Amino acid sequence: MDSQTTPLRVGMTPQRVPPPAALVIFGATGDLTQRKLVPALFDLYCDKRLPEGFTVVGFARREKSSDEFRAEMRDGATRFARNNPTGNPKWDKFAEGVFYHQAEFHDLNGCISLAKFLERVASERGTGGNVLFYLATAPEYYALIVEQLGQVNLAHAERGWRRVIIEKPFGIDLASAHELNRRVLGVFDESQVYRIDHYLGKETVQNILVLRFGNAIFEPLWNRNYIDHVQITAAESVGVEGRGGYYDTGGALRDMVQSHLLQLMALTAMEPPVSFDATAVHDEKVKVLRAIDPLSPEEINNQVVRGQYAASGTIPGYREEPRVDPTSCTETFVALKLALNNWRWAGVPFYLRTGKRMPRRVTEIAIQFKAVPHPLFAQQVAEGVEPNVLALRIQPDEGIHLKFAAKQPGQTIRLRDVDMDFYYKTAFGSAPGEAYETLLLDALRGDSTLFNRKDEVEIAWSLVTPILEQWQNSPSPTFPNYAAARGDRARRTTCSRATDACGASRDGIFDFRFSI
Ligand code: BG6
Repeated sequence: MDSQTTPLRVGMTPQRVPPPAALVIFGATGDLTQRKLVPALFDLYCDKRLPEGFTVVGFARREKSSDEFRAEMRDGATRFARNNPTGNPKWDKFAEGVFYHQAEFHDLNGCISLAKFLERVASERGTGGNVLFYLATAPEYYALIVEQLGQVNLAHAERGWRRVIIEKPFGIDLASAHELNRRVLGVFDESQVYRIDHYLGKETVQNILVLRFGNAIFEPLWNRNYIDHVQITAAESVGVEGRGGYYDTGGALRDMVQSHLLQLMALTAMEPPVSFDATAVHDEKVKVLRAIDPLSPEEINNQVVRGQYAASGTIPGYREEPRVDPTSCTETFVALKLALNNWRWAGVPFYLRTGKRMPRRVTEIAIQFKAVPHPLFAQQVAEGVEPNVLALRIQPDEGIHLKFAAKQPGQTIRLRDVDMDFYYKTAFGSAPGEAYETLLLDALRGDSTLFNRKDEVEIAWSLVTPILEQWQNSPSPTFPNYAAARGDRARRTTCSRATDACGASRDGIFDFRFSI
């Protein structure tokens, strides 16, 4: 068992530095290490959040020296970190603890030599045998690497702790996720396993719980009596960004809905946990996921919409992207309507949608309140007075907005919608930090609150797998069916195919509602 667990209070991140440790990144020559992990680690280092002797071991197949690896990581930090490594003595100090270990993933000898190297690191850099493994390889290697760690006795230590972070995707459907869990848990205990969903590390996502349970005014309204529906949107202006090979085997439902959007839904809908420790938070999220009504074949036809972007001007269509099958039927847009079978949410639809090459980048949870019971001011409406909306803006322009009706100045009563805004940047002086900083630090501290538990991942897959199977067995959709947008039009827009296909009256909300 992992005995080092220290519960984190969400929203009250302790400044405590984690104990000395080594981080071994499998698949270290990939994009994630250069763009996210090392920049996050360097920023943590500059902020004095990492322990003395902290060591990074990049494990990958390509031949290169530790010096070459350090130079690549410095390039990554230059482009993506908050702190500039160029001419910065802090980079030199940080880089002293960065090493490269070349080996094939399927070669047990690679793990045998890693074990020896880690022994050296433990004594020379004082990491005390604490090791965090990070699986950032192609997903097909996850189980193999974990089993090899088990075979060379790296999964458990007499002295210090061992943990493993597993990147998404955790499986490609329910059966594969179940099998991966079985193999991982054949080696590590659940308490050592950190299944990452980087959305959970975003400040604004953690703030959902603080907003709901740290304030008295929202929770009494947070139910079927006052809320008409909830919209959860993750619109991206980018396309597949050179990840065509991976994306074409997945699609938006697997890539975004199974993980990020269902997590946002769980945090929005969950009951207050008894405390903010990992078990209590996971238990409440699992209750929400279990309460989601699985969609029947008919509901899948009527309540799930998929799309794929076509070329537009100089922007290539999805099928023209590198390493994408030119006849691909992989969806780059998906919208679906879910219902929750529980006392708080019965009858309140949750609309989830996500797409690439959308006109604007926005991730937002919009709580749409019911209309007033009696339209006392119906005659006095000046322009567009709609029911109240509380929008939790996850990104960009992170913040919270409440839309309500107000009287326009003047001698007569005229109503208009106004916005009450909170922006992170203005309130706290800076935009929220990078999710990977929070998550790496939490894993080093032994706090799994912001990671996924085995059952969460499997229930999420059990909800999307029937949709994937039904699509698999249906005639091919007519793709592409929406034009790639340039991503710079900050105006209200409509994904009309989604609107048309969903039909039902309230589903006009599939129009993109951008609160500007
Ligand atoms: C990843 C998906 O998990 O999340 C990507 O694989 C997607 O396809 C990304 O672009 C979105 O993350 P963010 O933090 O940019 O919203």
